[in-house]
Amino acid sequence: MQTVNTIAAVRERIQSETRQGKRIGFVPTMGNLHEGHAHLVREARKYCDFVVASVFVNPTQFGAGEDFDSYPRTLEADQARLQEAGCDLLFAPNVAEMYPNQNNDWVKVLVSDITTRHCGASRPGHFDGVGLVVSKLFNIVRPHVALFGKKDFQQLAVIRRMVEALCFDIEIIGVDTVREASGLAMSSRNGYLTPQERTQAVLLYQTLCKARDAILDGNTDFNGITEQANSALRDGGFIPDYFTVCRADNLQPAMPVDRSLVILAAARLGKARLIDNIDFVCR
Ligand code: PAJ
Repeated sequence: MQTVNTIAAVRERIQSETRQGKRIGFVPTMGNLHEGHAHLVREARKYCDFVVASVFVNPTQFGAGEDFDSYPRTLEADQARLQEAGCDLLFAPNVAEMYPNQNNDWVKVLVSDITTRHCGASRPGHFDGVGLVVSKLFNIVRPHVALFGKKDFQQLAVIRRMVEALCFDIEIIGVDTVREASGLAMSSRNGYLTPQERTQAVLLYQTLCKARDAILDGNTDFNGITEQANSALRDGGFIPDYFTVCRADNLQPAMPVDRSLVILAAARLGKARLIDNIDFVCR
């Protein structure tokens, strides 16, 4: 695996691969990679001949007071993990390479509607930063296919809308969440948890599963389900941010007639803000 730090070097290498007729797959990340990221890279192989990953902690998607400065930067370990997963090229730029003009203040990529709820409401501007950096990365790498985790379900929905609206000729693949044996969704932010909090953290997924099972059993009192879930999370030491039953296609609040659903949840535990979700179809 080759690592490059400049836009010019990525373009040069990718142009030479595409000239040989190769199909390019892309996995953007912020590094501090775990098995969930490695799974995206391995999945990418199924859709392309040349896998590109990026590691870039993107300042424009962090709000004031969020963890941009403390976000773990572990490039050497990331390189080893990517190499082992079968990545061909790593793009690891610095901030000046991606944002030579103070975070590109004069260009914004705003995806409306879907970004106003859930994480968009709790983290104003977050998805604008994601839209901007992913657009830039798409224009740099120009992949045929790009893979994103369903772990960040709302992010995946935002990217799909952005790709459609801006006519990016890129196929977007959503990949299932990789979990610890306990059920805890793998996340770079799990590193903020103490060993005891890590055990407690399993409750988030358990609460999602319980809510899904209630709905599959025919319970359509989504408000009641949400209240019970929030109180279970509070009892387990979490500070819930949101827990909502939504339509999987547009992330609007679900109605009892809706069949394709996703339950989205975010909650704080100790120093970490954890997100998770579960999507399913009611018969
Ligand atoms: P990051 O949090 O590093 O995640 C990179 C990709 O890995 C995302 O598509 C995310 O959904 C996926 N991922 C994370 N944990 C996963 C898990 N347990 N199972 C499966 N996939 C998982 O998401 C970002 O970075 C950034 O917002 C980015 C898109 C790179 C833009 O800066």
